[in-house]
Amino acid sequence: MPGSPSMLLVTMVMRLCYNGPVAWPGWGGGQQGSAWAPHLCSQEPETKSVRICVLKSQPVCPPAQRRLNFTLLFVAQQCFQPDSRMGAEKRVSKDDRGVVPQQMLETKQFSGSNCHLDTCRVPEVPRMVYAKAQVLKPTRADVLVMTPWFAPIIWDGVFDSTILDAQFQNATIGLTVFAIKKYTIFLELFLQTAEKHFMVGHRVTYYVFTDRPADVPRVPLAEGRQLVVLEVRNYARWQDVSMHRMEMISNFSRQRFLREVDYLVCVDVDMKFSDHVGVEILSPLFGTLHPGFYRAAREGFTYERRPRSQAYILREEGDFYYAGGFFGGSVVEVLQLTTACHQAMVVDRANAIEAVCHDESHLNRYLLYHKPTKVLSPEYLWDERMLQRPPFLRKLRYVAVPKNHTEIRN
Ligand SMILES: *[C@@H]1O[C@H](CO)[C@@H](O)[C@H](O)[C@H]1NC(C)=O
Ligand SMILES: *[C@@H]1O[C@H](CO)[C@@H](O)[C@H](O)[C@H]1NC(C)=O
Ligand SMILES: *[C@@H]1O[C@H](CO)[C@@H](O)[C@H](O)[C@H]1NC(C)=O
Ligand SMILES: *[C@@H]1O[C@H](CO)[C@@H](O)[C@H](O)[C@H]1NC(C)=O
Repeated sequence: MPGSPSMLLVTMVMRLCYNGPVAWPGWGGGQQGSAWAPHLCSQEPETKSVRICVLKSQPVCPPAQRRLNFTLLFVAQQCFQPDSRMGAEKRVSKDDRGVVPQQMLETKQFSGSNCHLDTCRVPEVPRMVYAKAQVLKPTRADVLVMTPWFAPIIWDGVFDSTILDAQFQNATIGLTVFAIKKYTIFLELFLQTAEKHFMVGHRVTYYVFTDRPADVPRVPLAEGRQLVVLEVRNYARWQDVSMHRMEMISNFSRQRFLREVDYLVCVDVDMKFSDHVGVEILSPLFGTLHPGFYRAAREGFTYERRPRSQAYILREEGDFYYAGGFFGGSVVEVLQLTTACHQAMVVDRANAIEAVCHDESHLNRYLLYHKPTKVLSPEYLWDERMLQRPPFLRKLRYVAVPKNHTEIRN
């Protein structure tokens, strides 16, 4: 309603923030290029318009930031840092050190990379040409594309990489993989296919955890991509190798990933990329529908059902069964997830119980009570030998490489 208080407020915000041409697109006018929203409040940290922007931005910050107890001021600093990839320490200015209590400082550093890119502010994108979305023509009618808590489920056809690549243009992505003992034989194909399909055109760091650094193959990497070998110990049982991944990702997140990358993607190594896996997966916290259980009822999920385990899930509960071989998110969220899962496994060990699907059981418990902000369809994790490909699975992006379990695991 013209003249109503809310209309007045909207007009005021526009005047303060809008810095493009003055012509209004008009409701439903359908003109091209009526993209004024991204220009709102750009890059002027000290002006009134930014305050409005901060208030606007705060509700879209992920739950983690609320858990981490941000101040509004801090959100403002984080959101409007010109280079959102800066190391956490660098964000805390000298002036802040004088007034901020130590505990707050720690919170700040810990949450350093959490408030960036898509997670806290609306990124500005350049002019682009792409097909317009059609409200009355859903891109997919054969599969669920949204969880009940409004997290998109990523299938072929539901996203446009032109837009996403621009939005995530400045993201640095860490890909963690464990090649312990004989699993080093999978590295070459894994890395070669990742160079072809994984986050092409973006900054990528491969973090290869291994007890055999000499066996890491030299695979040529494209510009902007690097490989870091992290030497770690091995364990006699494959179950322990698998479970300790959470502890190692947690430790290294704290030690270096927080400073080095924005997002972490944590995957199994006995796999290969066979189609595009790009920034459409990036989000504060994401999990992947397990290819063996995506159509199963709750009772069919192999959740841990013994109440004595920290991974216990009641029969009446559960959204999906997530795969242990593909999860990730912002470094802060992955740090929280891996730390929580590791601690749960320590408690289980003390109680002489091991969850039925090891780290995967703990991952499922965590993702039940910390709802992922994106869910990847089984396109992102498939096994062509174990499963018949259903017609709605248009792409196979990351697939199992055949292996002799007995030979590789022992
Ligand atoms: C945030 O931290 C302050 C100071 O430590 C505390 O007083 C306040 O209760 C916290 N708020 C929330 C929502 O946790
Ligand atoms: C990426 O960084 C450049 C240089 O700092 C900046 O101009 C651009 O707006 C950023 N893009 C996004 C989507 O944040
Ligand atoms: C992880 O860090 C903790 C604390 O520094 C240390 O005790 C533990 O041995 C580390 N774990 C691994 C697997 O390196
Ligand atoms: C797997 O490897 C084990 C040990 O080397 C061997 O005994 C077995 O026959 C192999 N199985 C297959 C299916 O190749």
